[in-house]
Amino acid sequence: MKASSNDVAVILPAAGSGQRFGGVQNKLFATLEHVPLWLFSVRRLRLHQRVGRILMPISASDRPRFETEFAQAVAESEVELVAGGKERTDSVRSGLEALGDDDSVALVAIHDAARPLVRHDHLDAVFAKADQCGAAILATPVTSTVKQSFDDGHSCHTLDRKTLWLAQTPQVFRVDLLRQAYAKHRGRPATDDAELVQRIGIDVALVPGSPENLKITYPHDLTIAQAILNIQSQHEHARTRPDR
Ligand code: CTP
Ligand code: MG
Repeated sequence: MKASSNDVAVILPAAGSGQRFGGVQNKLFATLEHVPLWLFSVRRLRLHQRVGRILMPISASDRPRFETEFAQAVAESEVELVAGGKERTDSVRSGLEALGDDDSVALVAIHDAARPLVRHDHLDAVFAKADQCGAAILATPVTSTVKQSFDDGHSCHTLDRKTLWLAQTPQVFRVDLLRQAYAKHRGRPATDDAELVQRIGIDVALVPGSPENLKITYPHDLTIAQAILNIQSQHEHARTRPDR
């Protein structure tokens, strides 16, 4: 399949409440360099020429803020707000329904709004792999020794880490495959979209990403994110300097 501009639609789930992050507001309103996390994620995605529509499921309680304080940012970055749901899969389903029958869309990329630092080269790689095989996700190989215990830590055995990966987002699928997966999904819990797609018999490819693409879960993740951002900015600066 030949890639063309704007043929990847993004569903950017943002309808959580950030329980583990704590605080009174959704963690996605926390800022990195004065930019709210959700907008940081949007801007990273907008830099990629294949990204067209961005549909962002949000909760009913956050909608007033998006429609007042952030109305201009939403409009300028051409984000379509949709109603999120109770579980993350409900939010993704709502994004998929809002996408409708859009002929211009080849791939759907589902990306956590809480992962603001995804790199352009990793977007390239995961989109290309999804073009090739229909379903691909970013993931990182496990680097630690992993123990498994069935008795609350009284005893354990070691898993072969060569076979283990940590799943990230974007998780990218041919639009028809994702629709089939969600049509079959009847609420049995799934931790990610790749699992739903696997359940309809489709192999999901793992594309090596990087720990830079961290998900902001706890407040201290913001400190790590700032450090990553500093390094990314230095690299970007080095790459784009006119004397190089
Ligand atoms: N999300 C969503 N709809 C839900 C639950 C989560 O759109 N019903 C989104 C979150 O806003 C987040 C992404 O899915 O961008 C990943 O979820 P997570 O990091 O777990 O965020 P929260 O669910 O908000 O955090 P917590 O689990 O700590 O409450
Ligand atoms: Mg959650």
